[in-house]
Amino acid sequence: MSIWKRKPLNLLLAEASETEKGLKRTLTAWSLIALGIGAIIGAGLFVRTAMAASQNAGPSVTIAFVVAAIGCALAGLCYAELSSSIPISGSAYTYTYATMGEFLAWIIGWDLILEYAVGAATVGIAWSEYLNNLLVNVLHMSPIPYELSHSPFQTSPDGLQHGMINLPALFIVGAISLLLIKGIQESAFVNGIIVIVKVAIVVMIIAIGWGFINPSNHEPYIPPSSVFTDSHGIDHSFGGFWGIIGAAGTVFFAFIGFDAVSTAAQETKNPKRNMPIGILGSLAICTLLYILFAHVLTGVATVEDFRGEGGEASVAFAIQKYMTGYQWLANFVTVAILAGFSSVILVMLLGQSRVFYAMGKDGLLPKAFSDLHSKYQTPYKANLVILVIVGLFAAFVPGDIVGDMTSIGTLFAFVLVCVAVIILRKKEPDMKREFKTPFVPLIPILGVIACLLMMVGLGWTNWLRLFAWMGIGVIIYFIYGIKNSRLNNGDK
Ligand code: ALA
Repeated sequence: MSIWKRKPLNLLLAEASETEKGLKRTLTAWSLIALGIGAIIGAGLFVRTAMAASQNAGPSVTIAFVVAAIGCALAGLCYAELSSSIPISGSAYTYTYATMGEFLAWIIGWDLILEYAVGAATVGIAWSEYLNNLLVNVLHMSPIPYELSHSPFQTSPDGLQHGMINLPALFIVGAISLLLIKGIQESAFVNGIIVIVKVAIVVMIIAIGWGFINPSNHEPYIPPSSVFTDSHGIDHSFGGFWGIIGAAGTVFFAFIGFDAVSTAAQETKNPKRNMPIGILGSLAICTLLYILFAHVLTGVATVEDFRGEGGEASVAFAIQKYMTGYQWLANFVTVAILAGFSSVILVMLLGQSRVFYAMGKDGLLPKAFSDLHSKYQTPYKANLVILVIVGLFAAFVPGDIVGDMTSIGTLFAFVLVCVAVIILRKKEPDMKREFKTPFVPLIPILGVIACLLMMVGLGWTNWLRLFAWMGIGVIIYFIYGIKNSRLNNGDK
């Protein structure tokens, strides 16, 4: 028995051809770009841009988007190599199992819960903010009471109301989990429409909002270094270099999901050419939109707005307060965002169930996680467990905390993926690679540095949360995984 045992590559590839048989190469570079944008634009842009501006960087959140995009591009090239050589569900978990052994594979699988499950909770909480905005400003109804739409750790800006449970966030993750159990496939058509709507609102806000920029809100563009203490009493570096790096860690969330592109390697025509175009193309388009959007948002409303009432449903707030005559745009944005967030939650919950499915099959999690529903053929038990985990986070933890946990957890996964590329080149030099990361080891090393820098920017409280989460994972592995692993117990 060894915790470093690697899953043999031929076994993985045999599993891949068994399960992914019959996939056709139909995706072009453009369909990959659409897939990426569909999974990417969400709460990171529409909620966390304002958060990063208020807590860390002011208008220089635009520069933070560039830093985050560079880190993603470097890690994205590494993802593309691994997914084109080990094309099987489970993403970074599976790659690590083949390269760095079972213990680290478990660590990354456990860590991916932060990316997918906690990420889904973050978007669910953002959905809840915009739902209240829909009820009040679009439908002119009463909002869901503060205590029923916020976690117990939140208090309203006037200090008079306290949260108890976030019911709308719980509702949306519950509804989408049930849809997944029924086996809804996000069709390319629906995804296409959502992509068009999302890009359209971002472009409209940029184009119309540009005329409402108040230049004094951009003065100084990079605020001088200071410390900002948030409503939970946590200090953040505000302004200067570390303000930008901290903001990069926060808005990094806005890029999460682009790795979904890399998982489509097997279905891509000419992956050598189209994978990098798909990954870097969707990143480039999003980065450009994000920079312009952040420039407009921080020009229209002030940092003080985002520290107060405008901290929730920030984009709709900025339009309503400053862009007179454009109430229709605020309404449109609110409805479109609710739809757009739902599709992001769907992709994240789907990603999580694939990881649990793979871990259940390997015996690191109970086998029930890989049981398929007799009628719907979906891993419904995994979906139900995920619903409980995501539901607890969505209902009882504030959005900024779960969002930062998602960012630091995903950055950690990216670091391991970059390292895995270097190791696999050494250990399996002859393996067939549909796509090869250029300039190895330079690109992976730069990827590690960029991701670690953003992790540092997220501050020690998030490191503590990451360590605590990983500590729980290590305990579970030694109590359960090591004893039940199929690889370690001679089943295979
Ligand atoms: N990138 C996705 C979002 O911003 C996760 O919602």
